[in-house]
Amino acid sequence: MPSNLAQVPLFLAPMSGVSDLPFRLLAKECGADITITEFTSSAALSRDVARSWLRLESDEREKPFIPQIFGGDLDEMVKTVELLQGSANIIDLNFGCPAPKVARTCAGAALMGTPDELVGIVEACLAVSDIPITAKLRLGTGAGANNVVEICERLATTGIIRLCIHGRTLRQGYSGNADWETIAKVVERVDIPVIANGDITDAKSAAKCLEVTGAAGLMIGRGAIGRPMVFAEIKAGLGWPIPTSPWVIADSQRWDEVTPIERDFISRAWCWKRYVELSEETTGLQPKWLTRHAVAFTKGLPGARAARKLMMGNDKPEDFAKAVTEFLDN
Ligand SMILES: Cc1cc2nc3c(=O)[nH]c(=O)nc-3n(C[C@H](O)[C@H](O)[C@H](O)COP(=O)(O)O)c2cc1C
Repeated sequence: MPSNLAQVPLFLAPMSGVSDLPFRLLAKECGADITITEFTSSAALSRDVARSWLRLESDEREKPFIPQIFGGDLDEMVKTVELLQGSANIIDLNFGCPAPKVARTCAGAALMGTPDELVGIVEACLAVSDIPITAKLRLGTGAGANNVVEICERLATTGIIRLCIHGRTLRQGYSGNADWETIAKVVERVDIPVIANGDITDAKSAAKCLEVTGAAGLMIGRGAIGRPMVFAEIKAGLGWPIPTSPWVIADSQRWDEVTPIERDFISRAWCWKRYVELSEETTGLQPKWLTRHAVAFTKGLPGARAARKLMMGNDKPEDFAKAVTEFLDN
């Protein structure tokens, strides 16, 4: 399905428990143009909680480095921006998280219910920041009419450089379909780049979303969990230039002859092994991250359920990683 759609950058969505550093680097090798860290609490960062700072590690291969922060307290957000600007290239502010424990502190998407406060936080962060700031929003809280268009019109005059919109409300969580038409309205009304997000999982949905929204970029979340090769697939599917994927190069003799399911195994095996290598090079093998990604990388493959039981029997992360590799290779 080569398209005549102009190429736009593809973003890996910030995803808590998924978008760790090795996974972000892997997504880049799989065709993602821009990555963002999972959200991190400004309350914890501004109080120097070590576990939260671990989430904000980067690597010189990740340029730009974009940490995402959330919080409902203006002073904590400002302090965190000041602390981050030495290491970050851009800071992303989260106004899209629906998690009750975040919304309860009037942070994340809950701030869309108090637009003056939201805009005030952005203005205060921009006032102290030497580096660019972006924001990720939803359509609104879902209580009353959606207000993302009005909020974005205000934000576009603050000096913020880019907006990303997930086409659902806070109340919707992840249910229903993403509303790309409302994202199109924002694109029409503001003169800074708007990134569209929600329900993009392949070349077909990427093309449709671009046609409907006219967005300056697309962000992919759940479609990339366990399948970071989705970025290469979208670019290839839309006829955008992209180098031959590393998993094709690695198995080029067999690639053209094998079935789609074998291709799935080959590409996932390459990605898994690379994830393990990138972990060893950066954060070290983190058992929690490995388990989460192993479940995702094997999801839906024949024999995966039974294999997962065997994998989980390994206590050492190295042995666990090897067991997953053996399943995918075989
Ligand atoms: C497991 C998971 C964790 C998420 N964590 C974050 C986060 O830390 N920050 C954020 O802005 N959005 C977060 N999101 C929302 C995604 O960034 C994205 O907006 C949403 O999944 C819709 O895109 P999709 O349909 O491509 O998945 C998360 C989503 C999932 C599924």
